[in-house]
Amino acid sequence: MGSILIATAMFPEAVERLQRAGHEVEVCEGVPLTGTLAEVDALICPLSLPVQAELLDAAPRLRIVANLGVGVDNIDLKTASERGILVSNTPDVLTEATADLGWALLLAAARRVVETDGELRAQGFPGWVFLPPYLGVDVYGKALGVVGFGRIGQAVARRGQGFGMELFYTSRSRKPDIGGVLRARFVSLDELLQKSDFVVLCTPLTPDTQHLIGARELRLMKRDAILVNIARGPVVDEAALVSALRDGTIRGAGLDVFEDEPRVPPGLVGLKNVVLTPHIGSATGATRRRMADLACDAVLAVFGGERPLNLVTPPASG
Ligand code: NAP
Ligand code: GLV
Repeated sequence: MGSILIATAMFPEAVERLQRAGHEVEVCEGVPLTGTLAEVDALICPLSLPVQAELLDAAPRLRIVANLGVGVDNIDLKTASERGILVSNTPDVLTEATADLGWALLLAAARRVVETDGELRAQGFPGWVFLPPYLGVDVYGKALGVVGFGRIGQAVARRGQGFGMELFYTSRSRKPDIGGVLRARFVSLDELLQKSDFVVLCTPLTPDTQHLIGARELRLMKRDAILVNIARGPVVDEAALVSALRDGTIRGAGLDVFEDEPRVPPGLVGLKNVVLTPHIGSATGATRRRMADLACDAVLAVFGGERPLNLVTPPASG
């Protein structure tokens, strides 16, 4: 029998499943965790919880951290690995939902859906106008650039194929194996930025991707281009993005993630040419249930003496 701390509100079925297996489960949301960790063997945590050395110090019995998310940039993997603590995540089950959200942002920004919805509610429907002040840009048949061509990036590109788009991607490595399925061309980041009408960011946050998109990269983009970030906020230099959106360096943006969540800079909130969502990429009922299932699977595997399926490889030491 183990002691499990779930550091976020959770589906009752998931809690009951762990309890039925004979484990003690505490669900605690929004409190400082360090006081409650001493007796904990397994932690199921939201990706908004920083799991750093200080927290791990307070949890001497901890055997696994099951992150509710695929991105694990909130976790000090090196320290966890040095202490023999396993880390698992929730890949695959959220891929399609996150790609859908990326497309929701792309379409909303291109066709000014949120802006015009707000104006209609505030001022009423002014009547059909041939040349309205809110002309958008075409999506069908334009060029889509995907930065980070893994599970989510490829799902974003597959949707682009349905929109008759020319597809570009950049990643750490070329993906020769997708050639038969996706007609996407591997290019450098600079070329992708120069050629794409829509740029969707789908990388993890790592030291290499921090501020991957800054003032220089935004200047490389087309003036009519739209940037969508469904990766992590710090992949974009937010201050540079606010300037680029203000001065028309690019046309617009759709952002699900922010540099210093949950803070959203007032500079962004004040702009009409950006669509903002509060990190809801995977937030559908069915997807969140599958994520909870995966986290529980991982914890139960550890308590059963098995190796969890979705272990995150610790970074090379040094
Ligand atoms: P994945 O399958 O591992 O794909 C990540 C891709 O990024 C890989 O293709 C990788 O290249 C590429 N990459 C890594 N470093 C790069 C760099 N420096 N430059 C260019 N490309 C780079 O992961 P995934 O499941 O698609 O998830 C990707 C990320 O999306 C997560 O880590 C998370 O941060 C974010 N996410 C956000 C939400 C949300 O709610 N907004 C939801 C889910 C995930 P290689 O293939 O060459 O290694
Ligand atoms: C969400 O942001 C995730 O990484 O799963």
